[in-house]
Amino acid sequence: MPRIFVTRSIPDNGLKLMRDALGAGSVDVFPHDRVISRDELFTGAKGADALLPTLADPVDTAIMDTAGPQLKIIANYAVGYNNIDVKAATERRIPVTNTPGVLTETTADLTWAILMDTARRISEGERYVRGGKWQGWAPQLLLGADVHGKTLGIFGMGRIGQAVARRAVGFGMRVVYTSRGRLEPFLERQLNARLVDKATLLAESDFISIHCPLLPETRHAFGAVEFKAMKKSACLINTSRGPVVDEAALAAALKAGDIFAAGLDVFEEEPKIHPDLLTCENAVLVPHLGSASLETRAKMAEIAASNIVARLQGKTPPNCVNPEVL
Ligand code: GLV
Ligand code: GLV
Repeated sequence: MPRIFVTRSIPDNGLKLMRDALGAGSVDVFPHDRVISRDELFTGAKGADALLPTLADPVDTAIMDTAGPQLKIIANYAVGYNNIDVKAATERRIPVTNTPGVLTETTADLTWAILMDTARRISEGERYVRGGKWQGWAPQLLLGADVHGKTLGIFGMGRIGQAVARRAVGFGMRVVYTSRGRLEPFLERQLNARLVDKATLLAESDFISIHCPLLPETRHAFGAVEFKAMKKSACLINTSRGPVVDEAALAAALKAGDIFAAGLDVFEEEPKIHPDLLTCENAVLVPHLGSASLETRAKMAEIAASNIVARLQGKTPPNCVNPEVL
């Protein structure tokens, strides 16, 4: 019977799928409800035929080599896979899989929740009410920014970027976007979207929402220079990966009034948050909840488990990000 090591408990449907297909004793789940330590990950991975890590677990050459030559798949419980050294996995002919598609709409929903909160100062208002500070309606209390009719900048027009842009149609927004590829003309018309360069995106957007993967070339794509180039009234939203934004520079820009506000679901060194951001009232800070709906986390469990079952049964895992190994 193969051994599948799961680094943190995922929804039951995924565990059941693997147990039913591969044997009741095949699934070994890290028993504690916390991020697994490096040492514990080495211990758990050793001798495993399959690994099911989360985005909080770096899987590098040392982990792969400790696991051993029988390791046949790494099925990440996320769409992003920057926590996995895919190059090293490819060299070892280990397929790496992700969970694309199912979390697109859920992450777009959360992006809009954060965008609205950031614009209209909902969380700040909540703190104000609970802090016992509210003295009643006032003409100038917690004035925010309108969302409808504004320009939304999408940095990275992949599946999630497009899902965010679709929601902007209902708000009568204009969309500008940067992307590796241009959308079909009918989609551009439908989304009221225009492909621009980064400088134009920074200059014209009232809201910028980041939806690129984390790559060497997107690390700190938003830093001091970019914040200076944005409108002083603009809001920055990031639900992609933390290191795309330079947090120290962002905190400085928020304090200096270079931009109006920021809403972040992801951070450079999760769960640590730059201490200067924690003191910015105009920052909405959310604990990486992009895909965190009951429905979507169950679908992600099913996809990660299905990839493992397929691979361990000698079939092609459907969501391989390095298919050249197959
Ligand atoms: C979440 O951040 C994911 O990549 O699935
Ligand atoms: C993620 O699914 C993306 O392509 O944006």
